[in-house]
Amino acid sequence: MNLPFSQNDLSHVVETDRAHVWHHLLQHKALETSDPRIIVEGKGMRVWDAAGREFLDAVSGGVWTVNVGYGRESIADAVRDQLIRMNYFAQSAGSIPGSLFAEKLIEKMPGLTRVYYSNSGSEANEKVFKMVRQISARHHKGRKNKILYRERDYHGTTIGALASAGQPERAALYGPFPEGFVQVPHCLEYRKQWDVENYGQRAADAIEEVILREGPDTVGLLCLEPITAGGGVIVPPEGYWERVQEICRKYDVLLHIDEVVCGLGRTGTWFGYQNYGVKPDFVTMAKGVASGYAAISCTVTTEAVFDLFKDDPADPLSYFRDISTFGGCASGPAAALENMRIIEDEQLLNNTLVMGDRLMANLEALKEKHAVVGDVRGKGLFQGAELVADRKTKEPVDEKLAQRVVAEANAQGVIIGVTNRSLPGLNNTLCLSPALIATAEDIDRITDAIDVALTRVFG
Ligand SMILES: Cc1ncc(COP(=O)(O)O)c(C=O)c1O
Repeated sequence: MNLPFSQNDLSHVVETDRAHVWHHLLQHKALETSDPRIIVEGKGMRVWDAAGREFLDAVSGGVWTVNVGYGRESIADAVRDQLIRMNYFAQSAGSIPGSLFAEKLIEKMPGLTRVYYSNSGSEANEKVFKMVRQISARHHKGRKNKILYRERDYHGTTIGALASAGQPERAALYGPFPEGFVQVPHCLEYRKQWDVENYGQRAADAIEEVILREGPDTVGLLCLEPITAGGGVIVPPEGYWERVQEICRKYDVLLHIDEVVCGLGRTGTWFGYQNYGVKPDFVTMAKGVASGYAAISCTVTTEAVFDLFKDDPADPLSYFRDISTFGGCASGPAAALENMRIIEDEQLLNNTLVMGDRLMANLEALKEKHAVVGDVRGKGLFQGAELVADRKTKEPVDEKLAQRVVAEANAQGVIIGVTNRSLPGLNNTLCLSPALIATAEDIDRITDAIDVALTRVFG
């Protein structure tokens, strides 16, 4: 660590943090007896805390975000140059990086043509929900306004986005929610809901059943994660996506894929949906778009959807009456452009595939060795291990034990994640999402630490 701060300065930071900062996700009572974690420096895959401890970060900034790793001077330079030239103007006007990043993005997303900027994943998803409601009001006489979401998926933290949360523990305490959001069943085959051979097709058929139950003329949108993240790293079974696409076409339901986690390389393709050949009407993205170097999110859609918002220029209600103040920050697309250049020039999609295979092989080996590992799943550098008390019954381990595994890995200098206050009784999946620059040594060090942690907690 090489910081322009003395140990005294850092101790002051820790104390003022304890006194004044309300951390995300934490029960602060616990911080009365321990120090808050303050991360002070990062380089590549590693971060250092205020006490000088070094950690290998296997979760890209805690929440699958820092895809190209820490300390990228070229992104900092791109942002600095842009801020000095032109930092901000409302997005009713354009910007140089906003225009150039949209062009680059659209090159990677055949079939989609329009990019709407905002600044968080929740907000990007809310934009889709608003667009669908406007399409309903203006083009379907108020019909087709319902939004379907899937059990175990998550689309954001605002009240509107939480209305689409398939993770009850996230939404508990924050209702009442807006109307018109309807849940469809999850597709995790490990926790089967149907005893059939073609599970993917069956799980997708369940969506059709919901559409028929609600009435196809009431349903406007189906919103899905390509691979569920915080709900337990769920890779849809074979045949699922093909059937989903068919169902959406059959009932004229727009398909929205939430790429907030998978977007920009995490699964070894630019976007998660591109593993499945599916053609969405909306794609949203945030976290990895600029790897956390600036706040940016995008709602991307087709020309057909875009055209619905300019049908009658004389009518003031025809355009999309929406703004996101910080969607006009030029630092976001400036950072995103450089982030994308790095992924291309350093061939990080390929590295993600190679290292993803290694990570999966290592997790499979842990499953062989530790009975508590019930299932391992994922794609690219986005993987999880579900911990069970009993392999036969698949009874989940107590979530406190899963959290102890995280703490034991942390004690060895490796930061891993676990599903957290998402699903009652099912917060038992360890989550791994190292940066796309991970090396074979990094991957082995991560799984070695989990190996030791599992032995310490479960014997
Ligand atoms: C799949 C998914 N969508 C949306 C969001 C919300 O993104 P944000 O926290 O940037 O609002 C998240 C956040 O974890 C997510 O995992």
